[in-house]
Amino acid sequence: MATSSVTSDVKTSQFVVGSRVLPTQFCLAPLAGYTHLAFRRALRELGGLGLATTDLVQATMLISQRPKSLELIATSPEDRPLSVQIFSGLPQELVAAAVWLQEHGYEGIDINMGCPMAKVTGSGGGARLMCDTSGACGTVEAVVNAVDVPVTVKMRLGWDQQQRTAPALAREFEQLGVAAVTIHGRTRQQGFHGEVQLDGIAEVVAAVDEMPVIGNGDVRTPEDALHMQQVTGCAGIAIGRGALLDPWLFRKLQDVLHGQPARMPTNDERHAFLLRHFELMTEQHAEYSCFLFRKFAAWYGATLEIPEDLEDRLRRIESVPHFHELAAEIRERIGTRTSPIPTALIRVPNGPVERW
Ligand SMILES: Cc1cc2nc3c(=O)[nH]c(=O)nc-3n(C[C@H](O)[C@H](O)[C@H](O)COP(=O)(O)O)c2cc1C
Repeated sequence: MATSSVTSDVKTSQFVVGSRVLPTQFCLAPLAGYTHLAFRRALRELGGLGLATTDLVQATMLISQRPKSLELIATSPEDRPLSVQIFSGLPQELVAAAVWLQEHGYEGIDINMGCPMAKVTGSGGGARLMCDTSGACGTVEAVVNAVDVPVTVKMRLGWDQQQRTAPALAREFEQLGVAAVTIHGRTRQQGFHGEVQLDGIAEVVAAVDEMPVIGNGDVRTPEDALHMQQVTGCAGIAIGRGALLDPWLFRKLQDVLHGQPARMPTNDERHAFLLRHFELMTEQHAEYSCFLFRKFAAWYGATLEIPEDLEDRLRRIESVPHFHELAAEIRERIGTRTSPIPTALIRVPNGPVERW
């Protein structure tokens, strides 16, 4: 088996978030539309994942049990440890959703304070909450007091460069009983552009006493993760797009932390992941999986290094047998791509962030 030769002096240990003891400090950052149940389960089977969080769910939709929201929080016994991420601009809605989740057996609540999209910030939720320190603290306090399960917060560095409120908020949240914060090292103004500001994550780490800070943003390799941990002192790392690009990243990190060379996946393993992801999706969505799976085509094009004609056909699969026929061809041509693999594999909103 091929290996890569990164080594680390970052210590490996269990990762404690409130009353939860997580197997590792490496978490899956939510990517709405991608990181749902089938992907999480397939990823967990590869090893190394600490905590996964669902896509963001609107609190009111959840309380009124809209089918789309119930689909977003769909889980299974293998899908542990899991937190559910909720958003709203109204504390009472977040409280009601958190209580509902606890009553229905969910073990962790994550409050979204990072989403830059107008449909979330327009009603005072997502990153907008970071503009009003006392409002954000009141909201968080209400949720923490309403449930016994650990409450975490995922936020950005702040609304813009002038309002980098994350350190002050994190400090307050710790006093209020928040179990951990995840910091995407960009401001809302940055959207998904520009560099991740490691100094900003380090400021959050310096602002808190004991609460774990989970750093996030642009981690694609074990080196990136270890660099972020070394430079910022963050206790954990959340990985979003990097996990789609390299589902073995969590396993590789475990290898490195245990002083072993990172195991690279074999072609058989890479192909097995494709099959397993699709199989788990069909367990939940039957034939509709073909439609849902199309958006992963670019990622599999990159992950499996398959030629573009196969990637295009994956983007247009129409039935389960069609998928399996194509998968058999893919097996024969893994690693044979000659055209460059695009780096921007996920569409993030474009243009001025004010119009998102
Ligand atoms: C398509 C997409 C969907 C996202 N959905 C969510 C979400 O539902 N909740 C959330 O907190 N962050 C969401 N994010 C932000 C990511 O969790 C993460 O903070 C960001 O992508 C930076 O990390 P990465 O470079 O590891 O992907 C999303 C990002 C993208 C690109």
